[in-house]
Amino acid sequence: MAGLLAHARFIIGAFVFALILAVAAPAGAQQPSSVNPTASSVKEQQLLNALGKGDAVHGRVTIPDQKSANLIHPAGRDWRHFHEVTLRWIGAIAILGMLVVLVVFYLVRGQVKLESGYSGRRIVRFNAFERFVHWMTATCFIILALSGLNITFGKPLLLPLIGEGAFAGWSQWAKYAHNYLSFPFAIGVFCIFLIWIAGNIPNKVDAEWLKRGGGIVGHDHPPAYRFNAGQKMIYWIVVIGGTAVAITGYLLMFPFYATDIQGMQLAQTVHAIVAVLFVAAMLAHIYIGTIGMEGAFEAMGEGTVDANFAREHHALWLEEQNARTGPNDSQRQPLATPAE
Ligand code: HEM
Repeated sequence: MAGLLAHARFIIGAFVFALILAVAAPAGAQQPSSVNPTASSVKEQQLLNALGKGDAVHGRVTIPDQKSANLIHPAGRDWRHFHEVTLRWIGAIAILGMLVVLVVFYLVRGQVKLESGYSGRRIVRFNAFERFVHWMTATCFIILALSGLNITFGKPLLLPLIGEGAFAGWSQWAKYAHNYLSFPFAIGVFCIFLIWIAGNIPNKVDAEWLKRGGGIVGHDHPPAYRFNAGQKMIYWIVVIGGTAVAITGYLLMFPFYATDIQGMQLAQTVHAIVAVLFVAAMLAHIYIGTIGMEGAFEAMGEGTVDANFAREHHALWLEEQNARTGPNDSQRQPLATPAE
């Protein structure tokens, strides 16, 4: 009996020991020493090699937006360099360069005077609708330019001056203004295209006007119809530049609806370069329309110009006006003695 009990104790003991071994074995298998958990993950060197080739590095995601699987996009570094370095140089050279040219030009040439003085007779040049469209588009342009340039230059120039809180607040409002004023601006550019296209088709007179430098140096007055070659250039810069910033701007405002990431980067690059060149060109336009030329601002300010202004700068247009209305029209009488 005692032998039987000893046998049974041995068998139960052996069973329990086997059971403990069976339970303990998987736990042992999880020890870090036995398996390398990062063996199948991407090595840093592999990432760097991939970047060296200039390709994007993709992961895998299960959500519908596959763009989120893009881990690293080397073209983004080129874009950032463009945005933080190249664009700032292009913008600074274009805008400051234009300001310097205008200041030097003003100091050397001075204001283009109305050589035959004011006659007192006024000629209607722009009607109320034309002036409304001009000023609406111009106002939007100035706000779009300032709010856009804040994105390009605000961080290095304005932030250190006004501090983080004020800069964040101003930038938020500037961004709202940039988005919402884009709509009246785009409508304005379209209206400008329609209302002034007839007077802005290039013709032979423009070649002569350009050959004579627009009469801007010296006392020459090359003839022109309603718009001279210089004004036609401004018109086409506004129409083509305005269309370009509008199309690229809306691609940026509604990201990824019509473009992929490369398209977004291209849209931003084109938008920013056209915008800074556009600002430089408009500085020249503003200069000539204000302090640069006597009698010019009145055309868009009150809608009329002096008859002598029309004769000195738009002689062929004045002839057209006279032919249309006749010399008896007190507003549009031809002048008897041209000064030239
Ligand atoms: C329909 C007209 C326009 C639309 C829809 C538009 C839209 C946009 C959008 C969505 C951005 C990106 C903003 C951001 O990154 O948060 C932007 C940036 C910018 N815009 Fe416009 N914009 C328009 C007209 C203009 C005009 C007329 C100018 C200047 C004359 C201008 C100058 C700029 C500049 C300088 C930037 C910043 C570029 C940069 O540094 O990345 N935009 N615009």
